[in-house]
Amino acid sequence: MFSTDELCSLRWDPIGKVVEVIDQTLLPHTLRWCCLDSPAAFCRAISTMQVRGAPLIGITAAFGLATALTEDASDENLERASAALLATRPTAANLRWALEQITCEVQPLEPSRRASVALRKALALREEDVVNCERIGINGLQLLSALNKDTLNIMTHCNAGWLATVQWGTALAPIYKAHAHGMSVHVWVSETRPRNQGTNLTAWELHRAGVPCTIVTDNSCGQLIRQRKVDCVIVGSDRTAANGDVCNKVGTYLKALAARASNIPFYVALPESTIDWTCVSGEQIPIEHRDEAEVLSIGGLNSSGGYGELKLAAAHSKALNPAFDVTPADLVAALITEHGNFDACEKGLQRLRSLTSDQKPM
Ligand code: MRU
Repeated sequence: MFSTDELCSLRWDPIGKVVEVIDQTLLPHTLRWCCLDSPAAFCRAISTMQVRGAPLIGITAAFGLATALTEDASDENLERASAALLATRPTAANLRWALEQITCEVQPLEPSRRASVALRKALALREEDVVNCERIGINGLQLLSALNKDTLNIMTHCNAGWLATVQWGTALAPIYKAHAHGMSVHVWVSETRPRNQGTNLTAWELHRAGVPCTIVTDNSCGQLIRQRKVDCVIVGSDRTAANGDVCNKVGTYLKALAARASNIPFYVALPESTIDWTCVSGEQIPIEHRDEAEVLSIGGLNSSGGYGELKLAAAHSKALNPAFDVTPADLVAALITEHGNFDACEKGLQRLRSLTSDQKPM
C-alpha cells in the first residue's frame, strides 16, 4: 500500500538537500508540499501545525536539528537549536525523544562531522518510523480480526494516520492493514474540534485509500457507541506514562468513558517513542493550551472556492483551548505497539521495556 513515496508526509530531497513536508494546514482542499530549509522554518512548521502528530513532529525536529548543524555545528548551537525545537510544542514525547537521539549521536563527535552524521541519523529515524508503524498495523490487525464482525465499525479521533507519522500511521495502520486484507471496515471519524483533524485529515486520508468512513460531530460519538454502532475505538497517543495512562487529542477521554460504559474495546496505538518513562502517571504530562482564536473562529472554503476565516462567537467572548487530555490506563483495553500488544498498566509497559532493554539503559 505504501510502496511509493507518494503517500508519505515528509521527504528528503538529496539533490536540493532540503526536507519537504505536506502543509497540513491547507488540507483537505489543497495538497501542497513546502520546503523546510532553515532552522526557523522547521520551528515554524511544527508550531503552526503545518506538520503535526507526535511521531511526525519528532522526525521533523530531527531533520531540523540536522539542518541547524549544517549552519553551525558548535556545542552552543547544538544546544540552542535543540532548545528552540523543543519549545515548539509541549505535549508530544517524540519531540524530545528525537532530539535526544540526534544529540547522543553527534555530541561526542568533532563539529566538522556532526552535520552529516545528524542527517544520516534523521534519515534512519524516518525509515524506522515507517517500519514501526507498519508493525503497529500488523499487531493491531490481530485484535481487529479477533472481533470477528462481518463489517467492523471502528471509531477514531483526531488524525493518527500517515499524515501524523511518515507512512501508515498509528491508529489508522491496523485499519489500513484490515482493509488490505479484504476485511470489511467502516470508520467513524470524529471531527475533532477545534482544529478539525478528523474532518480535514483523517477523512481525507481514508478516502484516498478507499476505506469507507463517515465524519461525525464530536458530540455524537457517545450516542453512537451506546447504540452499538461502534465495535471498537482506536486512537493514537502523544505521550504515554509509565503506568499506561495515555495523553491524546482532547476528546479522547470522553470516547474511552463511553466505550467502557458500553463494554466495547478502546485501543491505543503507539510507537515506543511516545512512552515517557519519567512520567509516573498521566498527571505529570504537560498539556498544551493553544490560542483561543482556534475555538472562537473557523476556517474553510467559501462558495467561490476561496479560503476564509469566519468568526463563530460574539465579540469579546473568551475560550479555553486545551489541545490534549489524559485517559487513565484502566479504560484502555490494550496498547498496540511495534513490539506487540500490551496491557495498559505498569506491568504491561515493563514487559515491553524488558523486551527492548538491550537497546537502552533501564
Ligand atoms: O495536535 P495534533 O494534531 O498534533 O495532535 C495529534 C494527535 O493527537 C494524534 O492523535 C497523536 O499525535 C497520535 S499520532 C500518531
